[in-house]
Amino acid sequence: MRIVDVQIAGRAYPIFIGRGARRQIADELRRLGGVETVAIIADQTVADLHLPKLLEAFPKPPVQLFVQPGEASKSLDAAARLYDGLAEARLGRKDVIVTFGGGVACDLGGFVAATWLRGVRFIQVATSLEASIDASVGGKTAVNHSTAKNLIGVFHQPSAVIVDLDFLGSLPEREIQAGLAESVKQAAVRDAEFFAWHEANVSAILGRSPDALMHLISRNCQIKAEIVARDEREENLRAILNHGHTIGHALEHLLHYELRHGECVALGMLVENELAVARGLLPRGVAERVQTLLHRLGLRTCLPRELATEDVLAACRLDKKNRAGAIHCVLLSAIGAPQVVGGVADAEIVAALAVVAPK
Ligand code: GLY
Repeated sequence: MRIVDVQIAGRAYPIFIGRGARRQIADELRRLGGVETVAIIADQTVADLHLPKLLEAFPKPPVQLFVQPGEASKSLDAAARLYDGLAEARLGRKDVIVTFGGGVACDLGGFVAATWLRGVRFIQVATSLEASIDASVGGKTAVNHSTAKNLIGVFHQPSAVIVDLDFLGSLPEREIQAGLAESVKQAAVRDAEFFAWHEANVSAILGRSPDALMHLISRNCQIKAEIVARDEREENLRAILNHGHTIGHALEHLLHYELRHGECVALGMLVENELAVARGLLPRGVAERVQTLLHRLGLRTCLPRELATEDVLAACRLDKKNRAGAIHCVLLSAIGAPQVVGGVADAEIVAALAVVAPK
């Protein structure tokens, strides 16, 4: 097992990665101290597959609350139903919530933990690749607003994160591929060597070689941990993690969350790279390198036909990163060299969308 520490002053926490990592739960509850009641907030599909295995790791049976899979559960209504369950269980200030699932369980469960009694401690048990390398780490919790993704949220760091590779084995291929998009993004903004590692290990990654998965998850967690420790509240450095997300979040919303988050981030990276190429910031060869890698990892590399350019622009205008109404994107000038660019013009986005549109 590997342990990556997120070194936020006063609120440091471990990420446990490995087969059987769930067995850390009892130790973590003991370490936290004063815990009388634990409530699990579990994705229903994940619970159907794996809950008995997780429950074996608890010193005494936790309260169990369930959420339906899918982005529609990241809502204030779903949060309200969970608050009802916590009230019934009388979950108190010193008690703990354990989230169990992918990005939706992490974001929604984290949001509920952040707001119940003005914040109780929580442990993220991530079961998708995307959640293991991104959504479970970093403390951003959120639900969606009808106009855009993640508009309602709170920063609230978990007390521990558990990535048990036993839970990842049953993931459908599409889920793995969607998670890989976030991994490519993280490498593209922070670690050129890690990007090249992806290129050299596509078969091992897609074949879910235990060594490859362990390296992929650990390195991503190290990158995320380092960035979050330096800039928890996204005042500067952390913004680079939003590469591909201005366009990606717009696509997710417009496509009614029918494409996975990672699939939209992959398309977002391609569009934002075209924008950077058009500005003379990024060499065409680097944009092609990213596109080739995403394609080899099984991700789609052209936009869905049904998208209207005007709608994409309107959705981009609602992005959280915008300042004074101007659209912001994180653009690359090389692998490992991102920069936040403000005042992106509509015409630039229209031109970049056209390059990634289906021919
Ligand atoms: N919870 C995901 C993040 O903080 O980025």
